[in-house]
Amino acid sequence: MDAFLPEHKRTLYCGQVRPEHVGTEIVICGWVHRRRDHGGLVFVDLRDREGLVQVVFNPGESQDAHSRADELRVEYVLSVRGTVRRRPKGTENPNLPTGEVEVVVSKMAILNESKPIPFALEDDTDVAESVRLKYRYLDLRRPSIQKVFRARAALARSVREYFYENGFIEIETPVLTKSTPEGARDYLVPSRVNAGMFYALPQSPQLFKQILMIAGYDRYAQIVKCFRDEDLRADRQPEFTQIDIEMSFIDREDLFVMMEGLMARAFRDVLGIDVPRPFHRLSYRKAMDRFGVDKPDTRFGLEITDYTDLLKDTEFRVFAEIAAKGGVIRGITAPGLGESSRSEVAALEEVAKIGGARGLSTWKVTPQGLVSTLAKFYKEEKVKALLARSGAKPGDLILMIADEFLTASDSLGRLRLHLGEKLGLIDKSRFDFLWVVDFPLLEWDKEEKRWGAMHHPFTAPLDEDLALLDSDPGKTRAKAYDMVLNGSEIGGGSIRIHRQDVQSKMFRLLNIGPEEAKVKFGFLLEALEFGAPPHGGIAFGLDRLSMILSDARSLRDVIAFPKTQKAICLMTDAPSPVDNRQLRELHVRVTTPEKK
Ligand code: AMO
Repeated sequence: MDAFLPEHKRTLYCGQVRPEHVGTEIVICGWVHRRRDHGGLVFVDLRDREGLVQVVFNPGESQDAHSRADELRVEYVLSVRGTVRRRPKGTENPNLPTGEVEVVVSKMAILNESKPIPFALEDDTDVAESVRLKYRYLDLRRPSIQKVFRARAALARSVREYFYENGFIEIETPVLTKSTPEGARDYLVPSRVNAGMFYALPQSPQLFKQILMIAGYDRYAQIVKCFRDEDLRADRQPEFTQIDIEMSFIDREDLFVMMEGLMARAFRDVLGIDVPRPFHRLSYRKAMDRFGVDKPDTRFGLEITDYTDLLKDTEFRVFAEIAAKGGVIRGITAPGLGESSRSEVAALEEVAKIGGARGLSTWKVTPQGLVSTLAKFYKEEKVKALLARSGAKPGDLILMIADEFLTASDSLGRLRLHLGEKLGLIDKSRFDFLWVVDFPLLEWDKEEKRWGAMHHPFTAPLDEDLALLDSDPGKTRAKAYDMVLNGSEIGGGSIRIHRQDVQSKMFRLLNIGPEEAKVKFGFLLEALEFGAPPHGGIAFGLDRLSMILSDARSLRDVIAFPKTQKAICLMTDAPSPVDNRQLRELHVRVTTPEKK
């Protein structure tokens, strides 16, 4: 191995060598991506973050470098001095930005060696994700992954520039703090100097950003880590990054314009795409009725149809009972699936069951009319009306679910997405932005038998629904909104309650007594008494946005050091046990037996 001397310092990135450099002497530094021996000549693809370039060891140019080329192995770290020349005719590589040139080595330093790597760093490697995450530093060397992180950095930069241009002030909020209710469990940190006390890591900076509005900062923005101890999925990580925003003296419309501008800017900067504005809007109720979810993928149709009024009066007990209890009978039409086999229908039923449905009924559309085991329960004109309403054509299959509204919606929503993928109905080149608005303020917690805030307890009710808070709280709509992109919730926010009396009333409704409210949010309630301006905001999931921008399949692909579904970092092995002395200092006793 050689020392790293001043003469070994890079003059150009490997990936940036071009025909304009032909004839010049350059120094490049990087990793051996590949090595090939060709009758006396040794070729090495040297790689750095900008790409790779072909390097030639020719005994005629440098005996010394050539004799050491034999030592080189994959991922060795080199500094190479050499002259750029055109590749001989017929050996150019049009797939490589550096493919017209090569570097003829005059001197080489081996700056470090590498053990044989556990998986190839080619883009199409099919190595298990657990191995990739254990050796994340190798995985992160792969050009396709480096591209993802550069796009993520470009996104963050674009967002910051937009904030700067629009008068937002970036203010950091604490990480060691009190619990903020966003619906997940808190990560807790024991306090050494305050025995028996714990900080909570923030689920979001929600309370602090509202306090900053009360403090008169008017426009706040922060790219900030949030922590939520919840069940993980492909689009959820225990620590993730928000683009967090709050503004004063605004209503929903002002915020929408500002945030549509932010997205347009980011998509232009990162992907060079012009996003049409204004974004479409859909009320929560319409989204649920038409798509079965509050974050619909609007890139394709397959919308839900309601058949309750048509099919409720029937001898068929299941439908009749569900309808009598206020449930719904709804369906979607699967184009061309009329000839599905029994097992294919069973597979669709499994998808519906994930959403909670107890069963799936089908109506097959034939040139002669509808065929179904349910047909015998209905008069002919009802069946005809059903067919007309469905808009189905011969060869289609109507899939029907009867259940409570939320269950039927969820199940049909899942079927819709499943069929959209399966039947290739989704135009993947599209970016469909959508605002979902007018969410219910409250949702009924079946287990706790009480109201909970659908967004969070600081969200203001719609002015026209204020009276409902007393008479029919479940019907109250909120000044809450989500931004949805291609079926993914990329952001959510609301106009806040800025009056102390309304906030106290909200806590009462949520069954948070005055004592509890004082302990948990006393500082906010007090601050609201000192001239709180009308304000509102939103937070975007930066990880989710980069996932969509990079067309990645999982959040783990756009987070440099992500955690697994079991919230483990395979590279560092966090979380891990700590020694007893540290626990004693923290006044913590562990009750689970130590794992062997
Ligand atoms: P909310 O809880 O909707 O709102 O979060 C805002 C956005 O953050 C992203 N997100 C996540 N991303 C990855 N992993 C997670 N576990 C995760 N949880 C949320 C989503 C989501 O839309 N304080 C409010 C915002 C406000 O009212 O201004 C809040 O946190 O993209």
